[in-house]
Amino acid sequence: MGRSSKDKRDIYYRLAKEEGWRARSAFKLLQLDEEYHLFQGVSRAVDLCAAPGSWSQVLSRKIKGEDMKNSDVKIVAVDLQAMAPLPGVIQIQGDITKVSTAQEIICHFEGQPADLVVCDGAPDVTGLHDIDEYIQAQLLLAALNITTHVLKKGGTFVAKIFRGKDITLLYSQLRIFFPDVTCAKPRSSRNSSIEAFVVCRNYSPPEGYVPNMSNPLLDHCYDVDFNQLEGPNRVIVPFLACGDLSAYDSDRTYPLQLDPEKKYTYVPPTQPPICPPYEEACFLKKHNLLTKEQVPQPQQERVLQGQQEQGAARSPLEAEVTDALGKLST
Ligand SMILES: C[S@@+](CC[C@H](N)C(=O)[O-])C[C@H]1O[C@@H](n2cnc3c(N)ncnc32)[C@H](O)[C@@H]1O
Repeated sequence: MGRSSKDKRDIYYRLAKEEGWRARSAFKLLQLDEEYHLFQGVSRAVDLCAAPGSWSQVLSRKIKGEDMKNSDVKIVAVDLQAMAPLPGVIQIQGDITKVSTAQEIICHFEGQPADLVVCDGAPDVTGLHDIDEYIQAQLLLAALNITTHVLKKGGTFVAKIFRGKDITLLYSQLRIFFPDVTCAKPRSSRNSSIEAFVVCRNYSPPEGYVPNMSNPLLDHCYDVDFNQLEGPNRVIVPFLACGDLSAYDSDRTYPLQLDPEKKYTYVPPTQPPICPPYEEACFLKKHNLLTKEQVPQPQQERVLQGQQEQGAARSPLEAEVTDALGKLST
């Protein structure tokens, strides 16, 4: 598979590199904004689960402006993974389900609540749908919990959601805090993915609600408490496809040369991850070292034995691999 084959299969991946976004996800936030005007009047925002940072880039460009002149703006970005710096964005490396991370975020907003909280959090999917949906729901609830501490009344919360079978429970929980909850599917989010985004507007916590980081929001008996609700008691939120419907279809394959006048050239990623957890696996794969068991042939075995006995020098590849693995593990 050539370098450009992903460019061909994924139009948004390719456009993201051409336009300088760190990830194709940027288009999801931009298309949500087209529909909901999310950034209107916003000067303080939190980006939860932000790495590699394309949503923070969008926030920064849309709120601060291209010239980065607006100095009242505050953007706080948080992720488990390290993220390359972005001018004007305060970065926190931490787990949003941990109270300590929430406290660190809250510290930045003391006295001046945020106007907007966004969360594009996704777990490392296992392929076991129930587990993936559950973890995704937990991330969303952790984000909601943090939001109850930092969002101003009337503010907006946008979060990724997996449209699984228990989604009504999440909608119900969001509706406790927001009278206006919509589920949106931007054009750049593949139809084949169960991903969508909840756009929750007009933050209005219940009278007397005291934000609390240890709320067990998902610990209900779902089937009994929610799934059997009927009529006006069952929360049904509107579902909206957003982004210009004539925009590129994220499930389609496009030719590399979109414009016959313009020659296709490969563009490398804007900002590759700086320390991804899969770094060692990539290295091993690149050097063809993944799960390859060397079965020495009898003749090779004798040579190896002889080399060991003589304390033979390492081959250049062996030396490179051992050194690099040593560096990775330190
Ligand atoms: C789809 S990516 C976000 C992409 C990002 N919005 C962008 O535009 O570049 C999902 C992110 O969620 C982060 N994440 C998953 N679980 C998390 C957690 N418990 N705390 C913080 N970040 C988490 C992952 O590290 C990953 O970077």
